[in-house]
Amino acid sequence: MKLLIVNGPNLNMLGIREKHIYGDRDYAALCRMIEGWAGELGCEVELCQSNHEGAIVDRIQQAYFDGTDGIVINPAAYTHTSVAILDALKAVQLPAVEVHISDVNAREPFRRLSYAGMACEAHFVGMGFEGYRLAMVYLVEKIGNGELGIGN
Ligand code: DQA
Repeated sequence: MKLLIVNGPNLNMLGIREKHIYGDRDYAALCRMIEGWAGELGCEVELCQSNHEGAIVDRIQQAYFDGTDGIVINPAAYTHTSVAILDALKAVQLPAVEVHISDVNAREPFRRLSYAGMACEAHFVGMGFEGYRLAMVYLVEKIGNGELGIGN
């Protein structure tokens, strides 16, 4: 099974940006943790991070053609603005799970709206890096037992 992990703008600045919100571990540490969890779960992962909306749309579209089984996505600020990322997730019809490191529902009101989330099966919010692990477990279990696949 192959999962694509998509991280949006400014997540490459983890460990530097707003440490009181996002913690002091950096993006490389997050990637290492995700790769470790993939090993434990017996799945393949591809990681991508971009500060550009179109690049994220391109990567989601590519997932349709490259054998990806599911997507874990933290669209970061594009969560709250991007209909293009929502449409890309809907276009590929791959099972997707939304992750946010911080509790977006307890912050500024504009962070409560998630466009990408409308195309996601599950949402792990405010659990720090652990949210990525829970999202991966969710997809591996549901795809593995046939509950989720392309188009459902
Ligand atoms: C975030 C929350 C977003 O509102 C914010 O723009 C981010 C990170 C999170 O992981 O908590 O960049 O997606």
